[in-house]
Amino acid sequence: MKFSRITGTGGYLPERILTNHDLEEMVDTTDEWIQERTGIKQRHIAAEGETTADLGTKAARLAMQMAGKTAEDIDLIIVATTTPAKVFPSTACLVQQQLDIHGCPAFDVQAVCTGFVYALATANSFIRSGMAKTALVIGAETLSRIVDWTDRTTCVLFADGAGAVVLEESDEPGILSTHLHADGRYEELLHVPNSQPSDTGDAQKIEAHICMKGNEVFKMAVNTLGRIADETLAANNFKKEDIDWLVPHQANTRIITATARKLKLPMDKVVVTVDTHGNTSAASVPLALDTAVRDGRIKKGDSIILEAFGGGFTWGSALLKF
Ligand code: UT7
Repeated sequence: MKFSRITGTGGYLPERILTNHDLEEMVDTTDEWIQERTGIKQRHIAAEGETTADLGTKAARLAMQMAGKTAEDIDLIIVATTTPAKVFPSTACLVQQQLDIHGCPAFDVQAVCTGFVYALATANSFIRSGMAKTALVIGAETLSRIVDWTDRTTCVLFADGAGAVVLEESDEPGILSTHLHADGRYEELLHVPNSQPSDTGDAQKIEAHICMKGNEVFKMAVNTLGRIADETLAANNFKKEDIDWLVPHQANTRIITATARKLKLPMDKVVVTVDTHGNTSAASVPLALDTAVRDGRIKKGDSIILEAFGGGFTWGSALLKF
């Protein structure tokens, strides 16, 4: 059986930056509270008319450039997103259109903040089973469009952005294992109510916003991410000291620190971007990966754990050799 390996990464953040001080003008909050409780200093917000597919396409182009791939080489596109511009076509089809790629399968994966890990696991299975050779795997979000900007408990957290990887068939293992989980019983702790027009029958009147019981989600996230790190190491007979990098979902520095402690990893082996990116849901892991690849921290041959936790609840991880 063949393996799959990441050969290119890309990231894109919209131009507009929203700082904690900007938020102080909008809701009853302080820069101090936000930094202390979340680690976030600023986040990026998409421009009017800038869609999730626009962000994803920009990240994908950079990943293709790094991998030395052209449109003709791509034979699978998977986009993880919670914030598609349209119910259909899928964001993946819209990205495909923008990249001038024609004919290959393109579809979205919806697993909220774990979306990129789900998409990577899916693309890995396509490649290992011979159904694809060169996949674009993208996490892209415009969460600013589903945030209630009057709710201080959520609006300080979420943000926009996109990250992408090119995943290629390889004789050497890149992705060593993936681990996906979900448990739908926690719906009420983190969800977007009113996202279908069925109540009113009027699609124009949808007001769909993220609702979160933050404290309860926090506790679940810390416990679950610790467990999945153990599961991932055990599945590969890896010891904690075999890991070079942890690239976690970027929701909160306190969650990231707790997971690093569990893995006995010093913080200089953990990629943290939540301070400048905020929580970009499905985009956060590929954006963090791209950041550390481009600044030279992550090098070829490094062993990396990717992991995420989010609405659903969903959670997942991947162990890979870069
Ligand atoms: O990505 C998907 C997964 N999502 C997550 O992993 C998020 C997990 N949750 C968290 O990161 C944290 O729970 C939050 C950052 C959302 C909240 O931090 P917390 O330490 O759990 O705070 P809390 O919800 O317990 O609230 C503490 C206090 C409350 O006031 P009282 O009731 O103690 O008077 C809140 O009303 O902080 C208040 N508060 C704020 N104060 C200033 C909540 N939001 C704000 C705010 N500014 N923006």
